[in-house]
Amino acid sequence: MKSRLKTYTPVLLSLALGTMIVVLVLRIVSFSDAVTSYYTPTILNFENLMEGSQHLKTVAEGEKRHQVRDNIAARHFTYALDKLSAQVNTAWPRARSQSLLEILAEAGQVRTALEQGDYTGVETGLTKLMPILAAHTQEHRDELHNAQRNIRALTIGVGLLSILLIVLGYVATIRERKVAELETREKQTTAALTSLITALEAREPYTKGHSVRVAQYSLQIAKGLDLDEPTQHRLSMAALLHDIGKIGVPDNILLKEARLSDEEFAIMKRHPEIGARMLSNVESLADILPVIRHHHERHDGKGYPDGLAGESIPLLSRIIAVADSYDAMTSTRPYRKALDSDEACKELRAWRDRQWSGDVVDAFLSSRDQDGAPRCEMAE
Ligand SMILES: [Fe+2]
Repeated sequence: MKSRLKTYTPVLLSLALGTMIVVLVLRIVSFSDAVTSYYTPTILNFENLMEGSQHLKTVAEGEKRHQVRDNIAARHFTYALDKLSAQVNTAWPRARSQSLLEILAEAGQVRTALEQGDYTGVETGLTKLMPILAAHTQEHRDELHNAQRNIRALTIGVGLLSILLIVLGYVATIRERKVAELETREKQTTAALTSLITALEAREPYTKGHSVRVAQYSLQIAKGLDLDEPTQHRLSMAALLHDIGKIGVPDNILLKEARLSDEEFAIMKRHPEIGARMLSNVESLADILPVIRHHHERHDGKGYPDGLAGESIPLLSRIIAVADSYDAMTSTRPYRKALDSDEACKELRAWRDRQWSGDVVDAFLSSRDQDGAPRCEMAE
């Protein structure tokens, strides 16, 4: 579960970032649209109205103030006010804010005075209107400036997120390629080693299928001991390869049907070390070399090659020792007939905590075979 989560993390992160980018882009577009469609014409209309007001004020204060209603300045002011009023009714809700309504109310009074030719009223109205208009124009310019700053910040944010997304995608691709490379290499290594095992077992017909069976028994024990998946994988590889060192044992000893002399047995006993040495160049098998080296150690310390005892023997070696012995006992050899499963189980139990590790023997005895049937009918 954890490793699956790890595998999908870059994909999930990319999806989350991608969604964030889409949301941000949509937000920027709509914000930018609102800013363009409101602030730009509003500020323009304010400026127009201000110009019209200045123009009108000059006339209302000058010598031709009696003609204020018929002056071009009056048309300038009225035109600007009409444009602002029209925009306010259709623009953004914020356009109907209190201060804007205030401008329209003040400007409306100026317009009324203008229509009546009341130049004093025009002048008084403009004196009130113009500072409000100036303040409001400045306020809008500030808001536009802030909006533009926010748009810039959002755009930079989106840019950074996009870069992050690209980096994440790159890292995920590299990682996937690495994993694929490792898997291919491991498959090639396994195929090469399986060929070696097949070659070994072809030399020694009585042991045909032995390594595969030892691997199966070992995994059944591993499940009983609740070993995790990576450990089971290592165990399986080590069990398949445990006797690979027999390739270095001469035919006259390996294939001898009679009992081996002490000298011959000494040579035979070197196969765990030869096997570990043979595989020492395969980087991916580094952690199973000790397992192979110690698969003939005994719980009581009387095994080989190092005479390790008890828990100082690697757990996986202890598991393979039980699986290996059970398969040897239940297979026919030139010098003896095969024991049946119950007899082999009794033997394992009898030498529990002497030849083999007690816990491992117990896990094996209580394991089930390939068909799910109990391994042994264990009479006490
Ligand atoms: Fe062996």
